[in-house]
Amino acid sequence: MTEREFISNHSYVDIERGEVKAKCSSNIALVKYWGKYTPQLPANPSISYTLTNSLTHTVLEFKKSDKLSVDVYLGDSKQDKFSQRIEKYFLSIKPYVPFIDRYHYTIHTQNSFPHSSGIASSASGFGAVALCLLEMSELFGEKLTNEQRRIKASFLARLGSGSACRSLYKGLVVWGEHSEIPQSSDLYAIPFPFEVSTVFKEMQDTVLLIDEGRKEVSSTVGHRLMEGHFYAEARFAEARKNLSVLSKILQTGDLESFGRIVEHEALALHAMMMTSTPAFILMKPTTLAVIDKLWKFREETHAHLYFTLDAGANIHLLYPEREKDTAFNFIKDELLKYTKNGNFILDKALF
Ligand code: DP6
Repeated sequence: MTEREFISNHSYVDIERGEVKAKCSSNIALVKYWGKYTPQLPANPSISYTLTNSLTHTVLEFKKSDKLSVDVYLGDSKQDKFSQRIEKYFLSIKPYVPFIDRYHYTIHTQNSFPHSSGIASSASGFGAVALCLLEMSELFGEKLTNEQRRIKASFLARLGSGSACRSLYKGLVVWGEHSEIPQSSDLYAIPFPFEVSTVFKEMQDTVLLIDEGRKEVSSTVGHRLMEGHFYAEARFAEARKNLSVLSKILQTGDLESFGRIVEHEALALHAMMMTSTPAFILMKPTTLAVIDKLWKFREETHAHLYFTLDAGANIHLLYPEREKDTAFNFIKDELLKYTKNGNFILDKALF
């Protein structure tokens, strides 16, 4: 679909006030999106696992008003920065949701995971808001098939936060045009379109909360650092190549090669931050201590346990369901001591 096809020419019924609800999962990228251009289009394609337990629940109340305004609450506390961000976002999507500026919105949002924990709350957050808007459009008379609803929700979520567009589907999800992935698009995400080997149909993700403080670099700032970055073009080309290789691995079930690509992608993401101007080092000494322990454990046991990182210090440990006990015992006995107060999140990706 093209951008023009998302522009709404539907005539909507007028509703004075109402309420819609949605929930959406977060996701963890295997091939990373890092670098974008206007309007929120990715510099390279990415692929992620949608998580099962890390969710955002959102309730959106709308009330007729002369002017668009938004109040966002996280739990009980009003979030002025988020309110402004959502207001700006709502204005930017008016061509696709024409009634959007005729309401005041009160948005209550609740995450099942700690804020700034390394789980991307903007992904599940914008995913849930986009689903609420689609539900609202339908209340206002727009008729969409399930597939059209998902695509439009993914398209709208992308305009809020790039990685959010991947949260609208379960399992493995691709965002960004790639010559070997049919139907892939920069405008919205699609489910990974090939048969996936059984071992990749259920992947455990244990997140070690190394540092629960605020991220030192927001994703938006980070993406901007890729503009004019000396390694940018090489990085974008490498991500395209890695997606091509990973696509075959996911179909054939080669766990070692999966781990090689996924860990390389995590380190490449951080290498980009470390070599940008200004430079950022988001890993903490404990992040490196965990990676070191993990590599030694793998050398000794040949367990299929691999790490990935987001734009932060926390570590996602990925392992297949059939090695759950070995992997989790190792995590419990050897890695939890590196976390803040022994904190971790047990999650998984499922088809
Ligand atoms: C490191 O989607 O948070 O998690 O589009 O500016 O909202 P914006 O950025 P965001 O970037 C996420 C980057 C990443 C890698 C990934 O999820 O692919």
